[in-house]
Amino acid sequence: MSPPTSQKDAASSSHKGDYDAVRKDIAAILDQPGYDDGSAGPILVRLAWHASGTYDKETNTGGSNGAGMRYECEGGDPANAGLEHARLFLEPIKAKHPWITYADLWTLAGVVAVKEMGGPDVKWKPGRTDFVDDSKCPPRGRLPDGAQAADHLRHIFYRMGFNDQEIVALAGAHSLGRCHSDRSGFEGAWSVSPTRFSTQFYKLTKFKFEKKVWEGPVQYKNEDLGEELMMLPTDMALVEDPAFNKWVTKYAEDRDAFYDDFAAVFAKLIELGVERTDDYESAPPFSREAGEKKEQEAKAKM
Ligand code: HEM
Repeated sequence: MSPPTSQKDAASSSHKGDYDAVRKDIAAILDQPGYDDGSAGPILVRLAWHASGTYDKETNTGGSNGAGMRYECEGGDPANAGLEHARLFLEPIKAKHPWITYADLWTLAGVVAVKEMGGPDVKWKPGRTDFVDDSKCPPRGRLPDGAQAADHLRHIFYRMGFNDQEIVALAGAHSLGRCHSDRSGFEGAWSVSPTRFSTQFYKLTKFKFEKKVWEGPVQYKNEDLGEELMMLPTDMALVEDPAFNKWVTKYAEDRDAFYDDFAAVFAKLIELGVERTDDYESAPPFSREAGEKKEQEAKAKM
């Protein structure tokens, strides 16, 4: 696959602070005919979420500041497998707008992707800085494990400062994208329109999902809509746990409530761990060391 923008585009730099120009260029790379369902949107949403979801409110560590996934300590975390594709999609944008930090670019890309795929406007503020080395990488193990249950979800998301309603609202992003057996071990999409932001994830929980019989990890399947759709054990936990299910039912029936609540909670997510200081440290394009290896490998496979 050829790079999304030409060398000429990449070489012409932009005016510092012109975030609207960055937004436009992110929107322009979402269409990726040779990749997955034809869009980089879902994996960009996942990149913004995983960049932020390492936050721990007790120690005020982790979160979207730093863009630590450029380093092996965070980029090589098995929980982040596959996100090198998202980072690679954004590299021409970084080359064209080298003044923006990776941490701002990754979160802004998630926000633009949500909007372009038909989702709500999510508030976004710049000011995240890039780590200059890997000394501040959060410990591994802070992101959720799809093989687990409701208590695990609460353990992980309460640590970030979210409540049950916010957990369910965030999980609605699983209307987007798909699982890849060579990344997480799980396989398949949750919805029939994985590149459209919608309430489908909640609506589909009303269908009967059965354990998939296969070699891979436990996951659930339903074929009522003519294709195999999936749920992770953690998704099923949202249906089975009464306190979570109350919100699943609400969002299945009330699109506006979901869009409003998702916009609020995604904005909160990407602010986790952000401390705005005067020194806006933007790492130069392709500055990563160990992390770069993963991107190069992904590029070679495309
Ligand atoms: C509730 C706990 C969560 C668990 C256990 C979980 C787990 C997973 C797993 C296993 C995948 C498949 C990765 C792959 O194989 O490529 C995935 C994909 C995805 N997740 Fe989550 N996730 C959770 C929450 C979230 C949240 C909060 C968001 C965003 C708000 C999100 C957005 C996505 C998206 C958009 C994809 C599709 C990525 C793609 O198409 O490449 N997830 N998630």
